[in-house]
Amino acid sequence: MSKIYVNKSPHLTGKVSCSGSKNAALPILAATILTKGKTTLYNIPCLSDTENMLYVLSELGGKCQRDNNAVYIDFTECKRHITPYESMSKFRGSFLLAAPLLARMGKARISMPGGCPIGLRPIDLHLKGFSALGADIKKGHGYVDLSCKKLVGNNIYLDFPSVGATENLIMAASLAEGETVIQNAAAEPEVCDLAEFLIKQGAKIDGAGSDTVRIYGTDSLTPCSYSIISDRIEAGTFMIAFAITSGKGEILNVNPHHLKPVSAKLSEMGAEIKENDNSIFIDATKTMTSSSIKTLPFPGFPTDMQAQFSSLMCETKGTGIIVETVFENRFLHIGELNRMGANIRIDGRSSVIEGGRKLTGADVTAFDLRGGAALVLAGLSAKGETRISGGHHILRGYENLCDKLSALGADIFMD
Ligand code: EPZ
Repeated sequence: MSKIYVNKSPHLTGKVSCSGSKNAALPILAATILTKGKTTLYNIPCLSDTENMLYVLSELGGKCQRDNNAVYIDFTECKRHITPYESMSKFRGSFLLAAPLLARMGKARISMPGGCPIGLRPIDLHLKGFSALGADIKKGHGYVDLSCKKLVGNNIYLDFPSVGATENLIMAASLAEGETVIQNAAAEPEVCDLAEFLIKQGAKIDGAGSDTVRIYGTDSLTPCSYSIISDRIEAGTFMIAFAITSGKGEILNVNPHHLKPVSAKLSEMGAEIKENDNSIFIDATKTMTSSSIKTLPFPGFPTDMQAQFSSLMCETKGTGIIVETVFENRFLHIGELNRMGANIRIDGRSSVIEGGRKLTGADVTAFDLRGGAALVLAGLSAKGETRISGGHHILRGYENLCDKLSALGADIFMD
């Protein structure tokens, strides 16, 4: 298992370029099943999650090739409708194969996605939507069996604006008969990127990025080439890296509109932020003060930035409160930060963080992707060496993280 070693690295400085978005790549890779032909995708990050997805796609019959961050996928033939358990249980995005297989093959056998440290991760909203489109659903032996001769459009109301359920249902509705309206849909940029990709292939989709998405099904989609958006959470993580080390620098290849809540919060805490067309400049050399955060679906404060902010708030002056409204168990990094000298109390879905602490390096464990990133950030500021076990979690969502941080002056390496 990979271990990451971080030493105190004050005043990170320089420019860092973001990779493609993991959470845009996974649904778009899955969506290539919908098209009989060769799709070309650019800006696909090389991560354990994307490599797992490419492996599963090839198991299903797709001919997949990678050339750095370009990926070529030919689904002229889709040979299987059953997904391999051992790969499916490795990453959450695997359930995004349900809709494309159901729409393409008329049936799908999908392994129930394993829960993960941040929560149970149920799929009831996905299944409610598939059922509304006419699919028969059977669950058993750790699998979900979906079948439907022809999907038929319908009105679907999501009890929660689930990103994955919105993405699955947009993919299923794209090849259904007639119109589908998804209400209380997720509006994340990654949902919009999937819609843009499908529209380029001939899908008829309106309203992606709002809470109501209308899809008018077509008989087939035409292969295309497409470049996915960059990773706003990676960009936000680098903003915190500059902030927690009182540094300054520029994050390149990012759409500032995707990070408004993060930039606004850092400005409120005392950082100087300058937004350009495709980059964000941050100067965090002045003293920063704590604030409070409540995570919400987009355009609210992103849950995927919550852990990273908790590391910063250990250092900034004053007491801050974080309320995590999206996942029920997303504080696993708190115990590890307290091992580094933080003083954080958890009360249900809230954590109270006493700031102004001088963190010290320690042996800590990453239990999930963003919690692991939070420990790396804390290690950049802590006195002495921080040794992070469970580094493989971090490899799931950050391409070349150690190299990118080292180029900014960080003392970090992975064994
Ligand atoms: C996506 O997960 C992202 N993953 C997550 O990023 C992100 O945190 C999350 O959206 C929220 O923005 C990918 O895109 C691969 P949800 P997803 O369905 O789709 C509940 C990261 O760190 N829910 O919006 O699984 C669920 O339990 C990862 O990159 C149901 O109750 O998230 C959770 O409490 C972590 N029933 C809430 O909705 C369902 O059927 C949000 O989940 C589906 C979800």
